[in-house]
Amino acid sequence: MRRNIVAGNWKMNKTLQEGATLAKELKTALTGKTVNCDVIICSPFIHLTAIHETVKDSQVKLGAQNCADKVSGAYTGEVSAAMVASTGAQYVIIGHSERRAYYGETNAILKEKVRLALDNQLIPIFCIGEVLEEREAGKQNEVVNKQISESLFDLSAEDFGKIVLAYEPVWAIGTGKTATAAQAQEMHAFIRQTVAGKYGTAVAAETSILYGGSANAGNAKELFSNPDVDGGLIGGASLKVETFLPIAEAF
Ligand code: 13P
Repeated sequence: MRRNIVAGNWKMNKTLQEGATLAKELKTALTGKTVNCDVIICSPFIHLTAIHETVKDSQVKLGAQNCADKVSGAYTGEVSAAMVASTGAQYVIIGHSERRAYYGETNAILKEKVRLALDNQLIPIFCIGEVLEEREAGKQNEVVNKQISESLFDLSAEDFGKIVLAYEPVWAIGTGKTATAAQAQEMHAFIRQTVAGKYGTAVAAETSILYGGSANAGNAKELFSNPDVDGGLIGGASLKVETFLPIAEAF
């Protein structure tokens, strides 16, 4: 179902103790407050169990930042979707541009990850987005279409309906250079239209599409006021309650 979502992607930041403290602070700050969106923390794997204990009876939901493309077995250092689900996490980011760029994750690998996440009742937050050269060449729609169709379009409409999409232009991630509200809306509308072309307008209308890339308290309101922007996937600004909570409050 289409929901407003503000999700923090902590990336490779925070020790276990620091992460536990931040989760507690966020929970406390949200206690007695109503925000018009789901608030999700996507922490490193090792934090998941501890944070789940902290946030399980609160508004804060929990996700991982990745999962393996294999079910189980001799894959040293990997963490399976079943393991993520067993911590109490409900979400998993799949296909972040940093995973694609630094760890060689292809559309075919990501398709496996999505399948395994869904098999384990995790909600994938599936990331898509072009690099600067692709945008400068006017190829952003083509790139995003390929990412979506090669990893997701084998899913049934029912399974696709469980997925959250996150458009993260790579040139806007961690650069302080946000897409303009108009650029975000234009791409989100294209993504929704792409989904509609495959699964129909009803499924497309129910898909949450988040924006990521230097989103912060200063630009969130304008970004979220677009009809096709259903929230944000937040990196740097999710590492402190003072910078993260105002983004959730922007709805
Ligand atoms: P920043 O908000 O730090 O630009 O990161 C965005 C992002 O990659 C979230 O997944």
